[in-house]
Amino acid sequence: MNSTFQSKLPRVGTTIFSKMSALAQQYGALNLAQGFPDYDTDPHLINLVKDYMNDGFNQYALMPGALPLREKIALKVMNTHQIEVDVQDEITVTAGGTQAIFTAIATVVHKDDEVIIFEPAYDCYAPTVELFGGKVIPVVLLAPDFTIDWDYVKSLVNARTKLIIINNPNNPTGRQLELDDIEALAQIVASSQVFVLSDEVYEYLVYDG
Ligand SMILES: Cc1ncc(COP(=O)(O)O)c(C=O)c1O
Repeated sequence: MNSTFQSKLPRVGTTIFSKMSALAQQYGALNLAQGFPDYDTDPHLINLVKDYMNDGFNQYALMPGALPLREKIALKVMNTHQIEVDVQDEITVTAGGTQAIFTAIATVVHKDDEVIIFEPAYDCYAPTVELFGGKVIPVVLLAPDFTIDWDYVKSLVNARTKLIIINNPNNPTGRQLELDDIEALAQIVASSQVFVLSDEVYEYLVYDG
């Protein structure tokens, strides 16, 4: 090991994805730990990518993302959630969810800020908060159905609280927030300066609306 390399996050080990995928490969097991698509890429998508590259769309996009893509995202948010978002100021395209989460945390978390996360949690939240000098305040989801004690969450909020990260539906428990949960969260943030980072990467795994 190179002794000049000093990790900024010495307590962070290998991700659970790497561990489980390596084990699955070692034992020839069915790998349910990481979301590998078990179907081919739609030929229509491949052709579209080819066509656009042949047409010269092979350069840097604008910093927040290509405008036609941001317009489509705004339309999707309107159609799905009936929320109007400004394509110029309120949408940034990133290379996947993890980069979006990293960027959002980097943007708002300063040294000694507190960030409330619900555990078990996707494993990029806590290290990113710590990387920017923040302090993780974990709230354990209560078994057997992984509910959230919002009175407890409220009791944790103080002048140093900068961010609450929610993940709906939750990875890895599958827990979905109910309307009551959202209302309790809304009430907490309405009376404070706390930001909410809402990771909804699995929104389309909810099949009953
Ligand atoms: C809860 C959660 N958020 C975000 C992501 C990241 O998504 P991406 O693969 O687009 O970086 C994952 C991926 O496993 C996840 O489980």
